[in-house]
Amino acid sequence: MMLKTIILIGGPMKGTRFRPLSLETPKPLFPVAGFPIIHHHVEACAQVEGMKEVILIGFYQPNDALNRFITQAQQQFKIQIRYLQEYTALGTAGGIYHFRDQILAGNPDYFFLMNADVCGDFPLKEMLQFHTKKPMGTYCTILGTEATRQQSLTYGCIVENKDTHEVMHYVEKPETFISTIINCGIYLCSPALFGPLEVEFKKNLEQNYNCDYTTAPAKEVIRMEQDIFVPLASTGKLYVYHTNKFWSQIKSAGAAIYANRHYLDLYHKSHPERLAKNSVGKPQIRGDVFIHPSAQVHETAVLGPNVTIGKNCVLGEGVRVRDSVILEGAVLQDHCCVLDSIIGWNSQIGVWTRIEGTPNDPNPNKPFAKIETTQTFTNDGKLNPSITVIGSDVQVPSEVIILNSIVLPNKELSGCYKNQIIL
Ligand code: GDD
Repeated sequence: MMLKTIILIGGPMKGTRFRPLSLETPKPLFPVAGFPIIHHHVEACAQVEGMKEVILIGFYQPNDALNRFITQAQQQFKIQIRYLQEYTALGTAGGIYHFRDQILAGNPDYFFLMNADVCGDFPLKEMLQFHTKKPMGTYCTILGTEATRQQSLTYGCIVENKDTHEVMHYVEKPETFISTIINCGIYLCSPALFGPLEVEFKKNLEQNYNCDYTTAPAKEVIRMEQDIFVPLASTGKLYVYHTNKFWSQIKSAGAAIYANRHYLDLYHKSHPERLAKNSVGKPQIRGDVFIHPSAQVHETAVLGPNVTIGKNCVLGEGVRVRDSVILEGAVLQDHCCVLDSIIGWNSQIGVWTRIEGTPNDPNPNKPFAKIETTQTFTNDGKLNPSITVIGSDVQVPSEVIILNSIVLPNKELSGCYKNQIIL
């Protein structure tokens, strides 16, 4: 069997809820548990037998960070990886149709399609087994999971035939409750899916023939969810495969902390060597911690649970870090304390300073709980409780408290802050 994977990485206008972290690096490359978000996708697909190629589709200008990621992942996973750039945002299915010849080259039997902004213990082999047992001519299997009624309204919602798991009804982000089975943004597709994509593409062209190109959306835009899944429901061509394993979206910085915790937990099974262990002359480790080999951590520091320390970070005496991600080159000076926070690239935190956020994880003990996609502001304009995010190259002085705040890059702070966005 020959397989490919397409990862939809979006572009610079996407990922705005992830600012200021996405100002420095494309969101799909933001490191979670020590590796870029899409590294975890590529790793999962490389383990499926027959996987020949991974194609990233997006509308970022090609850039050094993306090139470095591709080179490194190709070497590590011994698999071909390419980036194909859309000339404009073509929607969640327009890019696939645009690059159909490249996707179909070599006649793959099936291809996985993955949103970049999700994380999880992706059951790809199980989806393949499920899909190949469905009737010939099935177009697509959607990975689905259970959400609460409230959460479901911000996802694609699926009503299924409980015996066959055929999708009977599909509504994208409904206004009122439809179903607690939600679309995880991970699909297994047959090449026959290009049939309905072509029909939709031609319909679009006809309908928009006289539109002004400068004001009308690109005539090639196709939305997988609304334009393809909605009409395919109840035709016997679309199925849902359920998972109870860890899965979540990564829309906000808070979600990155959640993803970090769960990917670290998965390392027990997949990569125990990546988890730091307690030993003489080393920092004290509590629970799951990843420390990049180049980081210098003082032996009196206490780390964990759920902590990632990036490349070339320096952590001084008595430093305490819990439920946080410390990005490459950051310096945490003696006795500072970082809880529920992200510290940006090359930022410096002064001695005895406390950086603290409020986790927005509703269900911390449930391994596959989905986090609420909290908005930055409440309806009355207040900052929602969230983790603290320190942007890149920020200087935080000694002996201050930064609580539940977001600090933009290149700031030099002079005092304490609580519930603020520091521009
Ligand atoms: N290449 C490319 N081009 N990628 C795109 C484009 C585009 O024009 N538009 C979106 N994407 C990528 C995003 O970067 C992201 O990885 C993914 O497609 C989904 O993008 P959104 O448009 O932001 O959708 P969503 O995340 O709100 O909802 C989707 O995912 C949910 C699961 O996380 C839908 O598929 C929902 O039904 C689903 O529940």
